[in-house]
Amino acid sequence: MKNKTFPLKPSWEKSFGKRPKTYCRSQTRIIANPGLVIKVLGRKKIIVFLAYFVLVAVAMLNLANYKWAKESHTCSPQVKDNVSFQNRPNFHLLSKAPQTRKRQLVYILTTWRSGSSFFGELFNQNPGAFFLYEPMWHIWQKLYPGDALSLQGAERDMLSALYRCDFSVFQLYNTQLGKNLTTLEIFGALFNKVICSYPLCLFYRKDVVGMVDDKLCKKCPPQSLQALEEQCLKYDTIVIKGVRILDINVLAPLLEDPSLNLKVIHLVRDPRAMAHSRIRSKLGLVRENLQVIKSRNPKIRHFPIADLKHKANKDISDYYAIGALEVICEHVSKTLKTVLSSPSWLKGKYMMVRYEDLVENPVSTLKRVYQFVNLTASRNMEAFVVYMTNGHSNSAQPFQVSPRNATMAASTWRTLLTFQQIRQVEDYCRHAMSVLGYVHVRSLWEAKNLSKSLLTSPKV
Ligand SMILES: *[C@@H]1O[C@H](CO)[C@@H](O)[C@H](O)[C@H]1NC(C)=O
Ligand SMILES: *[C@@H]1O[C@H](CO)[C@@H](O)[C@H](O)[C@H]1NC(C)=O
Ligand SMILES: *[C@@H]1O[C@H](CO)[C@@H](O)[C@H](O)[C@H]1NC(C)=O
Ligand SMILES: *[C@@H]1O[C@H](CO)[C@@H](O)[C@H](O)[C@H]1NC(C)=O
Ligand SMILES: *[C@@H]1O[C@H](CO)[C@@H](O)[C@H](O)[C@H]1NC(C)=O
Repeated sequence: MKNKTFPLKPSWEKSFGKRPKTYCRSQTRIIANPGLVIKVLGRKKIIVFLAYFVLVAVAMLNLANYKWAKESHTCSPQVKDNVSFQNRPNFHLLSKAPQTRKRQLVYILTTWRSGSSFFGELFNQNPGAFFLYEPMWHIWQKLYPGDALSLQGAERDMLSALYRCDFSVFQLYNTQLGKNLTTLEIFGALFNKVICSYPLCLFYRKDVVGMVDDKLCKKCPPQSLQALEEQCLKYDTIVIKGVRILDINVLAPLLEDPSLNLKVIHLVRDPRAMAHSRIRSKLGLVRENLQVIKSRNPKIRHFPIADLKHKANKDISDYYAIGALEVICEHVSKTLKTVLSSPSWLKGKYMMVRYEDLVENPVSTLKRVYQFVNLTASRNMEAFVVYMTNGHSNSAQPFQVSPRNATMAASTWRTLLTFQQIRQVEDYCRHAMSVLGYVHVRSLWEAKNLSKSLLTSPKV
């Protein structure tokens, strides 16, 4: 059953001869006639000399542009180019022509342990959206242990390619040299609805709402990345979720790019809940914690590692798990300051969503989010989000998306963190918490009184 009837040929040969996206440019012709120019302006030789050069340069640019436009034949969206690209290296040209069809692009800006796997599922499950989970993981793997900040530029480059459905960028960060990545090796592939659905795989359908089973997806035939690109190109909405872009300012060039119709959804969560979740999942985050902590700003306060020498190992790793929040909250705070200053490049392109609001009012939050990115919430999607937030378990496995009692999960930290840990997080995250409407606690006793709400209206 596995390798039988797949219409998609894994044809790497063809993969880089992509159709030139159609592109019409109004052509301004400049006629350079140096002889005439010199006659008219006879005496001012220097000026004429310069003017001549400018004219020649402009004329040459114009000619190049004309030639290029001619090569892409017409402005019809159907044009295909069958030029052979055999000698191309294994990735696309960096600058691609703008897309004809304006796709809605969405970046979910979030951080570790913010409920982002669940939030991403709202797009993974939407039949109209192509969703990628954490693609920048590949960069962090390949360049380990780079510090989080230095990798921001590479991440932005990767996003820029992915939003154009150019997946050859994954190959650049392939850790297995001499081997072509397949769809199943992309991070998160086994939970990806497109990768595990028809036509790439026969087990699921993208238009039927429901979680995919990773054990089944593992049995899907590995496909070429080009086959995935072809699927990507069919969608009107492309959504990428990431925890590795630390600050929205990194995305400014993409948000300003007129060829990309990008919006950012900023998913946030109470940092004290994140701290608790980080402690619980710290084994899974060891490498990431290291990369984040390497980016600490040396000018601001340090958490006193030396003081911990005599403590038990467990305390130290808890401390690191919380310590990374210093860096994370500093960047969340930077994002919020930018948002509050409402720069023109962010106008109408930013939405903040609190995880707590999502689990308390799943359907209305879903509708609000979908409206922002012009998707519609089907009855099935509404049922799905309700089901996912009303389970009975309190998430034994921190990295899995499963139905859980989300209301309970949202307040577990209140009974399990020590007061010292709470104070530490509140100290690191003071500004972010006050903007996002997370109320500080004055005592452990207050933290443990679950009937006291610690949420207030956010300022963004
Ligand atoms: C990887 O893809 C390239 C380009 O299509 C192809 O030439 C090469 O043979 C492939 N390598 C392997 C190991 O499959
Ligand atoms: C391109 O397509 C045309 C017509 O479809 C064909 O005649 C020509 O041989 C093709 N060229 C190459 C390089 O494949
Ligand atoms: C939103 O989606 C509808 C239907 O899919 C479409 O007609 C409309 O043009 C879209 N609006 C924007 C602003 O993209
Ligand atoms: C979820 O937890 C809350 C608080 O402990 C409880 O009131 C509620 O009944 C639980 N819901 C389910 C479906 O178990
Ligand atoms: C818990 O908080 C609620 C709401 O602030 C308050 O009315 C109540 O007295 C508190 N309970 C205890 C035991 O302090």
